[in-house]
Formats: sequence, C-alpha cells, structure tokens
Amino acid sequence: MSYLLKNYNRKKISFKRGMGAYLYSTNGSKYLDFCSGIAVNSLGHANPKLIKALNTQAKKIWHVSNAFTIPEGEELAKKIVRKTFADYVMFQNSGAEATEAAIKVARRYFYSKGKPKKNRILCIKNSFHGRTIAAIFASGSKKMTEGFGPKVPGFDHIKFRNSKPRFPNIRNKINKSTAAIMVETIMGEGGIKTIPDKCLRYLRKICNEKKILLILDEVQCGVGRSGDFFAFERSKVKPDIVPIAKGIGGGFPLGAVLMNKKVASGMTPGTHGSTFGGNPLAMKIGSTVMDIIGKKSFLKNVKKNSLYFHEKLNQLKEDFPNIIKEVRGRGFLIGLQLYKDQTNFIKKLMENKLLTIRAAENVIRVLPPLNVKKNEIDQAIEIFYKVCKTYK
Ligand SMILES: Cc1ncc(COP(=O)(O)O)c(C=O)c1O
Repeated sequence: MSYLLKNYNRKKISFKRGMGAYLYSTNGSKYLDFCSGIAVNSLGHANPKLIKALNTQAKKIWHVSNAFTIPEGEELAKKIVRKTFADYVMFQNSGAEATEAAIKVARRYFYSKGKPKKNRILCIKNSFHGRTIAAIFASGSKKMTEGFGPKVPGFDHIKFRNSKPRFPNIRNKINKSTAAIMVETIMGEGGIKTIPDKCLRYLRKICNEKKILLILDEVQCGVGRSGDFFAFERSKVKPDIVPIAKGIGGGFPLGAVLMNKKVASGMTPGTHGSTFGGNPLAMKIGSTVMDIIGKKSFLKNVKKNSLYFHEKLNQLKEDFPNIIKEVRGRGFLIGLQLYKDQTNFIKKLMENKLLTIRAAENVIRVLPPLNVKKNEIDQAIEIFYKVCKTYK
C-alpha cells in the first residue's frame, strides 16, 4: 500500500545509491542511468565536489530569509552574470517557478513603462514550461490542462513543426497586447525538437521589430546539456529573459531567472519573492556546478563525447531503419524517435540495465550525465543494439 498520491505511474524499481553514471537498485542490480533524473544530475550521482560543497555548507548555514543579504547567492549570481548574457539573476527552486517568474518579469517590464495591457505571452502549442497553473496554460496542451480550468488567460499559441521548421502565421498572432514570445530552445518533453538557429534569429528579429521580449526557456536544454552553456548561444541570439533549473543544481532543487538590465528595471522591491529561493545550501551547490560546467574544457568535452554518441546512434538508425525514424537533439539532450510507440523499447532497455525516459512523438530521451565516460557511452550503444536485434 502506498500513501503517495497516484499522480505518477511509477515503475516498481527503486534505487538505494548512485555513483557517476550508475544507479544501484534496492534489489541489487546496477543500471546505467541515461535519464539523469530528467536532465538534472548533470555531474552524475555522488559527485565528490558537490558532496563536499553540500557538507561544508550544511555545517555553516542552511537557510536565511531573502530579507537579508545572502553572500552565497551573491557569489553564484556573479558567476552566472560573468558567464552569460545576463545582467541580473533571481533565484527560484524549480523550473516551473523560473518560467512563471520569467512571465512576471516580462509583464512587469511593460507595466513599469506605462503599458499594463501589453501582457500576453506567445508560446508554442504543446510545448512544456512546467506544471503550475499558469505554466500549463502557457503550454497550450490539452492533456496537461484538461480538468484544470478555468483557463488562465494571457497566452496565445503558434505552431512549430519539426519537419519544416518555421513559425507559420506568427506575425498575425502578435498584436498590441503581446509582451513576449516564450519558447524552449530545444523542446524537451515535446520530443527533443530543436528550434534551428535561423528560426531563433527570426524570432529575435520579430521581437526587435515589434518591440517585444524574447524569453528562451532553457530549463531542460541549458547549463551545458546541449554542448554549449546555453543552447541558443550558437545562433548568436541574445534573449531578454532565460529561465533555468534542472542541471544548475546537479540534483539539488534550484531554479533561476536570468535577465538583461532593460527588463530588470521593472522588478522593484516587493514585486516577487520566494521563501526558499536562493538559500545558502542551494547557492553553494549551484556555485560548484557553475565552476565545473562553466569551464571551456568541460563543455569542449561534452561536445566531443556527445558527437561520438550521436554518430553511434545514427549508425544504429542506419542499421535498424525500420525501428528508428530519427536521431534528434544536440549534445547530451538526445531523442531517438521510433516509428512505433516507444514504451516497450524503453522497457527492454531497462531490462538490459539502461535507463532512459520517454518524450512526445514516440521519442526516447537519452540524457546521460554531462561527464559520462566514453566507455559508458559504448555500453549504452551495445544495449541499444541488443534491444534492436530482438525488437519486433
Ligand atoms: C523546458 C522546461 N521548462 C520548465 C520545466 C519545469 O520544471 P520543473 O519540473 O522543475 O518545475 C521543465 C521540466 O521538465 C522543462 O523541461
């Protein structure tokens, strides 16, 4: 009997410990963890540097109110600003909080400029920005919003297709009330669909023309997962607001909204707050993650190893063209799209001790830790081949 609410269809398996890219189950099996808590354990399990940061900070101070200055938060914010487009950072605890705060920042900016009616956010239909009440209506997905009415107003939707990547009719969807466009640079839950650089540049161009803001949700694809610190970097586009979470905490709950000076001007004292957001424990861990992932050599290695993985997976696709339709994504945010429903395939991978996770459009998400070793990638590839050979 479980007293946990049945809002998840949980697998029977549970784990007692983790080490690097491996998880050890309570019944004694060893799994290659290419799920990483859905892009969270960016530095693998039980990373010694993160353990040290946690233990050291735990003996000093866990929590103080944001009513006081928190030096650990100042330190992490400085590291993020130095590394990215951002001029200011506001810490949260999760991805959904970060995307909601991003929406607040955008709306408040126009309010502070005397345009309170400029408050609508244009999002991609069936995208994913979290499970809070506004975030589900931002996604526009029927599945996520069903039964949770009344509809939260203030969101409009555009379509994005992977096959012919473009945003048809986007100009018609922007009007005087539009404050911002908010998209995931690489759509995670939606099936690892990358918005091509030229489309990102197009979005920036429209935002400049219409004098509206560009929010790029990098909760899943950010913090090194794509091979760059941010997935949008390659396009040279500069967003106005970027929510992050997942990887920045390396397994500790941590989210943040990054923004430029222009939009930060609307967020005056009292406009937003969070009891736990920016607590010293989370900040110290985030700082340690930044020190590691922020290094050029670390990201170079992510690029190199992920390229190797993509090559191997593309070979797998060529060897099994009737099973695998497409290899999607960038860096270690990888999607294997099957022709059929992926449930059984994921089950078979798990039986062979490889953990992955599903996404929309028959996609299997493959999300190893960013510091995964080449021989661990080879092990995963071997398992993929084994499953493909017997898969019907
Ligand atoms: C792009 C994106 N935004 C927001 C979220 C929500 O994050 P959280 O589950 O931490 O609230 C997710 C989670 O998967 C995500 O992938």
